[in-house]
Amino acid sequence: MGFSTIQLLALMGFFITLCLLPQHAQGVTRHYEFNLGRATIYLSKSLTNVPNNITIHWHGIRQLRSGWADGPAYITQCPIQTGQSYVYNFTITGQRGTLWWHAHISWLRSTVYGPLIILPKHNVPYPFQKPYKEVPIIFGEWFNTDPEAIISQALRTGGGPNVSDAYTINGLPGPLYNCSKKDTFKMKVKPGKTYLLRMINAALNDELFFSIANHTLTVVEADAIYVKPFETDTILITPGQTTNVLLKTKSSFPGATFFMTARPYVTGQGTFDNSTVAGILEYESPIHSSFSIKNLPLFKPTLPPLNDTSFATNFTKKLRSLASREFPANVPDRVDERFFFTIGLGTSLCDQNQTCQGPNGTKFAASVNNISFVQPNTALLQAHFFGQSNGVYRPDFPINPFHWFNYTGNPPNNTMVGNGTKVMVLPFNTSVELIMQDTSILGAESHPLHLHGFNFFVVGQGFGNYDPNKDPKNFNLVDPIERNTVGVPSGGWVAIRFLADNPGVWFMHCHLEVHTSWGLKMAWLVLDGKLPNQKLLPPPSDLPKC
Ligand code: C2O
Repeated sequence: MGFSTIQLLALMGFFITLCLLPQHAQGVTRHYEFNLGRATIYLSKSLTNVPNNITIHWHGIRQLRSGWADGPAYITQCPIQTGQSYVYNFTITGQRGTLWWHAHISWLRSTVYGPLIILPKHNVPYPFQKPYKEVPIIFGEWFNTDPEAIISQALRTGGGPNVSDAYTINGLPGPLYNCSKKDTFKMKVKPGKTYLLRMINAALNDELFFSIANHTLTVVEADAIYVKPFETDTILITPGQTTNVLLKTKSSFPGATFFMTARPYVTGQGTFDNSTVAGILEYESPIHSSFSIKNLPLFKPTLPPLNDTSFATNFTKKLRSLASREFPANVPDRVDERFFFTIGLGTSLCDQNQTCQGPNGTKFAASVNNISFVQPNTALLQAHFFGQSNGVYRPDFPINPFHWFNYTGNPPNNTMVGNGTKVMVLPFNTSVELIMQDTSILGAESHPLHLHGFNFFVVGQGFGNYDPNKDPKNFNLVDPIERNTVGVPSGGWVAIRFLADNPGVWFMHCHLEVHTSWGLKMAWLVLDGKLPNQKLLPPPSDLPKC
């Protein structure tokens, strides 16, 4: 495979949404496209005037042996301090499709994110008709307050954070939100053409339904993996996921406009709906139109109700790998290790001098196998590589929860989480089957779980408690969806398989940022293999220090 070296100077725009209405931050997304090859992304220049320490994660990039470039703060690197620089240097091998990048420290990703699109190699066509145009569509959230202040307040008081004030499409909240007519994403289309929409959910805390009035979408790719095409009016996309759809425009509709809108899919408590976000699809008219929004479109899509789990389930079931000769689904058929993780919300003791807002004077916490992850103060990958794990992490992450209980039944009396910085150690090339079971300790809730460093196959999912005797019989090992972020169903479970063929330390966490902040995260430590090309590369010399 030939690599072309493409160097991109990423002048990171840094937007903290402190603005008062109606001045919205403009398009927070920057957009890079590069052919499969070597990407070097420089993050130095503009960081000198960034007031926060920062790291950047290349969400969905496998980072084969280059874990030093993965980005999660205190997992694979210490943060880049104000005025310092760090070069993320990595090779993209065997991947193509829609991915994205975002800050990976505290809540900075609320405004620091963008699409990362890897085109197919030259002369390799899409497995569908070549689109007339490709359009990235990235969903985000709009806060009227600095999101960093919101999360630090929530952690200090042990309460829930404020929800965002609006959603955005390509950084813009759209004409239905106060004073925002000018800040509307508009997509001008020609009749009778096929457009490829590359959709990304960069929202902090919400899974989203999305639809375009009077138009059908054909899903063709998810998390940069082709899927068996299927048609739908609405898509469901969780934070962290990407979905490519084909939009076929109608044969003639001069001047007509249609709303595209998104609203949350929420199964937990604190259900809210600030679903004012709208963009506009406009058919070119023969008469020159300046596209000022005087008359809003007549047509608005009907989106499923907020808690429509049956829509979510049906949509998810339709996602199948292409599993063709050109694009096979290489589902691991052997399993070396089986793990069962409970994931969900719980409580922990309030510190003295806090006034905590959780149940019975506790504070909110979240955990995996009842362990709420404690962020270390040096990076796990460094500690591992230099043999300095003592006092940083312990290699004893449990393979099962400590106690069995009826995970989706009545909540147990004890809702307390344990805590620690524990990692799960895997020998190189371990084939893993992992069941993730949502618990309804503080209300059942769907959690988008994201695994760094790997794609995994979603071989099964269901509601209620996972049954190890029955459920594996129905696993799909033929054409399961392959992805990096999966919604664990509210009050249910999901089964994934992956091959641990990438040495390093790999974060796994809920991509609802508030749950990550509460501790719904853990790390896998994949050891080096024996061969030289199975070992983690040495760290770059500019690796930030803690
Ligand atoms: Cu997109 Cu660790 O996240």
